Amino acid sequence: MKQPETLKSSTSVIHIPIHAPAHAAVHAPVHAPIHAIDLIRKKRDGLALTEHEIKFLADGAATGSIPSDQLAAWLMAACIRGLSLDETRALTLAMRDSGEKFSPHALGKIAVDKHSTGGVGDKTSFLLAPLAAACGVVVPMISGRALGHTGGTLDKLESIPGYRTALSLEEFETVLRQCGASIVGQTPALVPADRVLYALRDRTGTVENPGLICASILSKKLAAGLDALVLDVKTGSGAFLRSHEECEYLAALLVTTAEAAGTRTVALLTDMDQPLGYAAGNWIELIEAVEVMRGERKPESENLRELSLILAGWMIHLGGQADTLELGYARAEKALTDGSALRIFFEMIAAQGGDLSVFDDMRAFHKPGATRVVEAWESGYIATMDTTALGWAVQRLGAGREKAGEPVDPHAGIFFHARRGARVKRGQPLASLYATTAAQLAEPEEIFRRAINLSEGPPHAVVPLVRRIFTRAEAERYLQSAP
Ligand code: URA
Repeated sequence: MKQPETLKSSTSVIHIPIHAPAHAAVHAPVHAPIHAIDLIRKKRDGLALTEHEIKFLADGAATGSIPSDQLAAWLMAACIRGLSLDETRALTLAMRDSGEKFSPHALGKIAVDKHSTGGVGDKTSFLLAPLAAACGVVVPMISGRALGHTGGTLDKLESIPGYRTALSLEEFETVLRQCGASIVGQTPALVPADRVLYALRDRTGTVENPGLICASILSKKLAAGLDALVLDVKTGSGAFLRSHEECEYLAALLVTTAEAAGTRTVALLTDMDQPLGYAAGNWIELIEAVEVMRGERKPESENLRELSLILAGWMIHLGGQADTLELGYARAEKALTDGSALRIFFEMIAAQGGDLSVFDDMRAFHKPGATRVVEAWESGYIATMDTTALGWAVQRLGAGREKAGEPVDPHAGIFFHARRGARVKRGQPLASLYATTAAQLAEPEEIFRRAINLSEGPPHAVVPLVRRIFTRAEAERYLQSAP
């Protein structure tokens, strides 16, 4: 995943611009015509593209002027050869500018958002968006759907009857003005280059390249006009990128690229060696998030509560509403305990058409088609959890999708009754699995059993919730010294 040595600087760039003669009354460079085939060859041969060439590719993807076979060939070359820091920055900005953009500045508040690289049971957005809004920043959150083994914020929210995730930019602004936070999906006109390139990457095995991931994530966040951004880069057995080094590289790349685009950014590397909280699915994740906001402190939800407060603390601090991170955390905790975050969360749901009556008795609203309780097959400690496999079990229960566009079951998912490190007795319930039909339970149960490793003694390593923090200075230092 680290960049090949030859590509770490842009010294190998071949400059195409032909500068006009000094007497000509033009100041911008005149560019020779560009052909997609030349850019594919150039990247295939390990050379870096210019900013102008990268823009040609992003615009070609957005408008359809470059056919998908040529885009796919270039993506494969980029995936194998890597992108320099300059190319990554150029691609991010060109993709950001490929369509319509949102400007939150008329709202008169500092706009801050959080992005997570995706995990299992990751429902922090439901807590931290209203927490940060309660503390004075505005949170224009453009979220995604379930992808592979990871859940999708939009799919979870759509389990609330009536909740609309497809708002126009005008409606988005109205909700933000009214509530301070809004969670919506990407509009068709926002970052069209990513829409095309992401679908191609998904089909051609070219997702896992740090430059391409960085440009894809940040183009969407920067198109939302953010002043500041907090990145939650997951690391561990449930992370999108498996090695810790790859996660560190991606975090540093994201921070330096977003900062170069003028957005104050910090990245936290956080633990995904077990699901976050006790619920993974759609509606059941809302149950857990609202329980935490109602002040119910179950030990199984403590990592969710703590991470949400840490991330919200950073949002409040970067958004200028607290001088230090510690004060940001304290303000977020107050907004959690005094009920103001929950009030904003409910206001946002109502403003986006959601039926609040389902929160009166959240468990009564949970009506899965089929349920199975999995019991411990022997006594011992939960030593490790293969969290990616647990995510696939959740997806196969019906909470996620096999192909883009498929419906998901709002009631499917898993309640985890024991966490990593817990001592369990044979026959003790480890998890409840919820699916659409009984026939859908067998495979996820099998995956679950293989994903949980029971040992005689307690696990040795205690994994911290936040493993590393990349501020701008730390990210620049890391990239300068990266091998
Ligand atoms: N999420 C995105 O939006 N893009 C990627 O490339 C990977 C994760």
